[in-house]
Amino acid sequence: MARIARLLALALALAGLVATSTAATLCAPNEPTFCATAADRSNGFVEITLTIVKQNISWIALGVMSDNATMPGTDIHMAWAGANGTVIVSDRKAVAYQMPLPDASQDITAVASSSSYNATSGNFTVVFRRLYLTGDALDNDLKRGANNFALVYRLGTPPNASFDAPIMKHSFHDVLTNVTLVDFAPSVDPVCVPLAAAATPSTSTATTRAAAPPSSSYGGYRKRAVCPPGTGPASAPAPAPSSKPGASVSRVSVVWSALTAVVALGVGSVLA
Ligand SMILES: *[C@@H]1O[C@H](CO)[C@@H](O)[C@H](O)[C@H]1NC(C)=O
Ligand SMILES: *[C@@H]1O[C@H](CO)[C@@H](O)[C@H](O)[C@H]1NC(C)=O
Ligand SMILES: *[C@@H]1O[C@H](CO)[C@@H](O)[C@H](O)[C@H]1NC(C)=O
Ligand SMILES: *[C@@H]1O[C@H](CO)[C@@H](O)[C@H](O)[C@H]1NC(C)=O
Ligand SMILES: *[C@@H]1O[C@H](CO)[C@@H](O)[C@H](O)[C@H]1NC(C)=O
Ligand SMILES: *[C@@H]1O[C@H](CO)[C@@H](O)[C@H](O)[C@H]1NC(C)=O
Ligand SMILES: *[C@@H]1O[C@H](CO)[C@@H](O)[C@H](O)[C@H]1NC(C)=O
Repeated sequence: MARIARLLALALALAGLVATSTAATLCAPNEPTFCATAADRSNGFVEITLTIVKQNISWIALGVMSDNATMPGTDIHMAWAGANGTVIVSDRKAVAYQMPLPDASQDITAVASSSSYNATSGNFTVVFRRLYLTGDALDNDLKRGANNFALVYRLGTPPNASFDAPIMKHSFHDVLTNVTLVDFAPSVDPVCVPLAAAATPSTSTATTRAAAPPSSSYGGYRKRAVCPPGTGPASAPAPAPSSKPGASVSRVSVVWSALTAVVALGVGSVLA
């Protein structure tokens, strides 16, 4: 399987999909064309390329799991085909063995020029762009080194063309524990430069940009990362934790109020 992964990494590199030839490629042991790789895009951004060659795909997903590697707690990067081979992405969180709902804060975007599904050949490629640290409590940080991931898909008809479409239960999943997707040094979010450097001109520039990042260079992003403890300019502190539990509580109630609809749709649990 490692040999297949290496061959695929080589193929992707030759196709120009991988910016750094050293980036690790993770593939599903039971679905060898289903692979993920990551590349740094500077300023705290990372792009994750997810590929599979398979016909009749409904949706595909990469789960960035928490330490226990169970479905509950998994941050889900999901994609499916829209009209004419375009790709829709959806940032979701699994909080139970139930249909993962979309996060209120959608912190992934598709790199449209590199994302497509050819239903005839089955060639599905999606590039997810996100921050390593999105600052959303419903997202899991993307960290360098060993972590737990899930590669998941469903066969059949794609969901509707909105990020918040109802989705049906997966038909395939592989969980990869203690594996490395980010095997390079993540770039630093300009907002999160250490306080010790805060007096330098470049830092004040970065702080200004972080307050109002140019959408042209951030692909429409306006969200900033929460700085790791002990870093970040004093003028732009991380959001108070108290703002997050409220979001979680309201989300839980949304989850439970949605359960009736989910059951009525016959969706049921998503990962056994
Ligand atoms: C696994 O950990 C996550 C995050 O801490 C938690 O939300 C989830 O409930 C845990 N899973 C199980 C099955 O307990
Ligand atoms: C899909 O492509 C066809 C033919 O080019 C075009 O007429 C149609 O508007 C496209 N649909 C969408 C949703 O872009
Ligand atoms: C989709 O794949 C088929 C079969 O490989 C190929 O003939 C076709 O040109 C592809 N379509 C696009 C838009 O690339
Ligand atoms: C699959 O699609 C990607 C993205 O459009 C493209 O770069 C790649 O060449 C395609 N591969 C094949 C075998 O068609
Ligand atoms: C596509 O997948 C669905 C769900 O597994 C299955 O019912 C259907 O027969 C499949 N269609 C084709 C053309 O393979
Ligand atoms: C997709 O489904 C969601 C949830 O039912 C709905 O809010 C949305 O309008 C639908 N979008 C489309 C394009 O049908
Ligand atoms: C994870 O993998 C590393 C090296 O591959 C190994 O040293 C470590 O013991 C593993 N940790 C767990 C929890 O399996």
